[in-house]
Amino acid sequence: MHFVVDDHPGLRPPGFKHSLYACLVTPRPIGWMTTVSAAGVLNLAPFSFFNLIASDPLCCMYCVNGAHASGGPKDSLANVREVGEFVFNLCTAELGPQMNLTAANSPRDIDEMAAAGLEAAASIAVRPPRVKASPIALECKVFDIVDLPSSERTRNAMVMGRVEVVHIADEVVVDGMIDFERIRPLGRMGYNDYAVADELFTMVRPD
Ligand SMILES: Cc1cc2nc3c(=O)[nH]c(=O)nc-3n(C[C@H](O)[C@H](O)[C@H](O)COP(=O)(O)O)c2cc1C
Repeated sequence: MHFVVDDHPGLRPPGFKHSLYACLVTPRPIGWMTTVSAAGVLNLAPFSFFNLIASDPLCCMYCVNGAHASGGPKDSLANVREVGEFVFNLCTAELGPQMNLTAANSPRDIDEMAAAGLEAAASIAVRPPRVKASPIALECKVFDIVDLPSSERTRNAMVMGRVEVVHIADEVVVDGMIDFERIRPLGRMGYNDYAVADELFTMVRPD
């Protein structure tokens, strides 16, 4: 089958029970982003519209879609507009339940890291702290925030940052390499489904 996107607002063509928006590119990495407001209120939230976008210098992005439940932009967008800094925390299978808690529509003055029972560790180059239990964290400074095509239903923006400091937990480094089987990164599938990347194989490039 195929369908023209504009004919099916909400990406739910006939025969499908739910919107397909999250099902078409999978698995997606989860950017578990820490930000702080100018007043210093900490926010932690997951974004699967996330990725690294350049390696030299190392840059990453996350996209904020829709609005905060109380109106206005989500905290993860409002905060970077105020402070211009964020931290990416890698989400592992073990941290999945806490990551899910931080997706709640919490009031703006709630520290979602503490509310999820997570400990913060101070960053070196930016104000937002990292999630101490996450094995990899990237401290980032925003270099651009771009408005994306938006609709009557949702407004979308992409936050792009340059990575200033990389944190790697000692226990996931084995023989000078990162051991993904120790990390067990979590990926977002469609619906409310997730995948754990713990079955690895190696393929050497032809040239
Ligand atoms: C796995 C997962 C991925 C998500 N990805 C996104 C995303 O890419 N963009 C987005 O706007 N919201 C996404 N959400 C929802 C946000 O995490 C949620 O709206 C959160 O409360 C952010 O709001 P805040 O910045 O106001 O805290 C995702 C939720 C989950 C559980």
